[in-house]
Amino acid sequence: MSITDTSNPAAGTTLSAALRCSGLTKAFQGVHAVNGAEFSIPTGQITALIGPNGAGKTTVVNILSGAMKSDSGQIFIGETETTGWPSHRVARHGLLRTFQLSRELGGLTVLENLLTAAPNQAGDSLFNVLTRPGLIRRQERENAQRALELLEVYGLYRHRDTPARELSGGQKKLLEISRAVMGSPSILLLDEPMAGVNPALIDVLGNYILELKRDGVTVLMIEHNLGVVERICDYVIVLAEGRTLATGRLSDLRQNTEVVKAYLGEVMDASAAN
Ligand SMILES: Nc1ncnc2c1ncn2[C@@H]1O[C@H](COP(=O)(O)OP(=O)(O)OP(=O)(O)O)[C@@H](O)[C@H]1O
Ligand SMILES: [Mg+2]
Repeated sequence: MSITDTSNPAAGTTLSAALRCSGLTKAFQGVHAVNGAEFSIPTGQITALIGPNGAGKTTVVNILSGAMKSDSGQIFIGETETTGWPSHRVARHGLLRTFQLSRELGGLTVLENLLTAAPNQAGDSLFNVLTRPGLIRRQERENAQRALELLEVYGLYRHRDTPARELSGGQKKLLEISRAVMGSPSILLLDEPMAGVNPALIDVLGNYILELKRDGVTVLMIEHNLGVVERICDYVIVLAEGRTLATGRLSDLRQNTEVVKAYLGEVMDASAAN
């Protein structure tokens, strides 16, 4: 399946979908948090998932990443149907996610946090420990080298031996993203990566996300800050009451009265009041 991006100046350009879902529903105690959401995420682009509080954004990310099963609907990563797959299987297929509230392992150091996120852990198998100690040592060396390189890139190198719980809110977000990148995802879902981040760090974090795009990673990020969406996102999905209300470029969505009423107006009013 492909997406026709009619808002592109070269209208009619087709982008392949890295991830798509249709008819997703999820109810909690009979109340629908997600109610028929469907959309496609274009390959190699940064897509924003926006919408009012309680719209179902995090629940959708939980379902796409396999952390939660939907009541109905279908999910495809590329051409592979991943509906109902558990998160470790989805992760092995290239899709990783970060959390709205950082899930850093507080007692571990920053470096240890990255090492636990490494995909190649031959040492996890008792068979390998007993029969292939050379392989384990080599992988551990490679993982440590990659972890230190990533910490350098994300400006956390000097904090490598600091317990993660001592980092600032913004540094925890950087750690969360670098842990996900350690897993070499082809698709990365970010749940409010800018929340709780010092305004001075927001542009820096945005640049890191743009860098992921340059490295070929497809990004879907839940974001309330429309300035960030405008600066780094190529494409926007608006979710309201568990349904996809609209998709397109932010500039086009600003002309859509339904979207402005449901969400953008509220945000614009709030920013005008500040
Ligand atoms: N585990 C759960 N049990 C019960 N209700 C839940 C659960 N998770 C989410 N909900 C409810 O589902 C609805 C959607 O929640 P969700 O967290 O997906 O929204 P959101 O769009 O991410 O909101 P926010 O912008 O505040 O993060 C809300 O009404 C929420 O209270
Ligand atoms: Mg949320």
